[in-house]
Amino acid sequence: MRSLDEFAGEKLGELDRAQLRRAPVVTARAGIWAERDGRRLLSFSCNDYLNLSQHPAVIAAAMEATARYGVGAGASRLVTGNHPLYGALESRLARLKGSEACCVFGSGYLANAGIIPALAGPDDLILTDELSHACIHAGAKLSGAAVHRYRHADVADAEALMAAHRAGKRRALIATDGVFSMDGNLAPLAALAKLAQRFDAWLLSDDAHGFGVVGGGRGSSFTNGAPVDVPLQMGTLSKAVGAYGGYLCASRAVIDFMQTRARTFIYSTGLPPPVIAAAIAGLEVIEGDPAYVGEPLRKAKLFARALNLPEAQSAIVPVIVGETEAALKASELLRDEGFLVVAIRPPTVPAGTARLRFAFTALHPDADIERLADVVRMRVLRR
Ligand SMILES: Cc1ncc(COP(=O)(O)O)c(C=O)c1O
Repeated sequence: MRSLDEFAGEKLGELDRAQLRRAPVVTARAGIWAERDGRRLLSFSCNDYLNLSQHPAVIAAAMEATARYGVGAGASRLVTGNHPLYGALESRLARLKGSEACCVFGSGYLANAGIIPALAGPDDLILTDELSHACIHAGAKLSGAAVHRYRHADVADAEALMAAHRAGKRRALIATDGVFSMDGNLAPLAALAKLAQRFDAWLLSDDAHGFGVVGGGRGSSFTNGAPVDVPLQMGTLSKAVGAYGGYLCASRAVIDFMQTRARTFIYSTGLPPPVIAAAIAGLEVIEGDPAYVGEPLRKAKLFARALNLPEAQSAIVPVIVGETEAALKASELLRDEGFLVVAIRPPTVPAGTARLRFAFTALHPDADIERLADVVRMRVLRR
């Protein structure tokens, strides 16, 4: 239809003028290497923090499950897609997270888009950190609740919003990333848990980037001695675990409720059996090899220290360059030096904070990290 194509064309033109148009680039991955446009680059733009997506045991588990069960699940989990492998995966996740039960969704995005609207509705209040992942904001919007964003990691601001808006609302939810996806810092979970308790609110942490990396692999609620009481521990199996899918660890009652009420659980096909088997094998590595699990954070710290940046709190280290054009240019400079570090631009990050986002993995050699830091210091930061 002409009007439809005109609409898309005009929007693309606007994005082109602002240098904000994005398009997928064909990228073949092999371990820590990425091949793009015929070039082999050392990749610092991958969330496979433990390189488990290519671990022999994970690959073998997926292959065995494929040979035995086939590929697709065939239906949603409430119809015939609830494969026997789910039990092993969910009980392992619940054990790792110290929760009574767990429910696996099709992806992390689907998890938040299902969990949040199942818990909150038009009579309720949701507070979110302004830098929370897009799927938290999407879930909050879908719920129809009154949504307020507090300033990034600012518990006093969250408290002020709670004090101003809690009265008259039936239920309240606070939702935050555990490790912020574009900044790499930890959320103030202990203080948020206290705030939640004071106002009879429920705390949800999205540990997409903390699970398998911080807190001995158990995630951001486990980073400081005694675990923080987070009743809704959500995360993904697509990053450190090396597979795919999302999860919620919570009480038995909450999980049973999700399985009968979360629309993205009910109305979406179950995960392919090889993916479930791969996730179980990935979790086995995470539980069995704490030294290996500690490597991405150690490497991120090494890089941050070399550049005199604040100490890394996760495997993610941002170097904020400001404008979109500068971030794109910096990414090109690094590509010329043999590194893949994708520029992150608005709307993924706030305007004026375009950046290079460095993600460290267990198998990145220290010597390459040092060379990367040298290149960033001299060619991007010009120090
Ligand atoms: C904080 C956060 N939550 C959720 C997601 C979505 O997870 P998934 O890729 O499994 O949909 C991501 C990944 O991009 C993320 O960074």
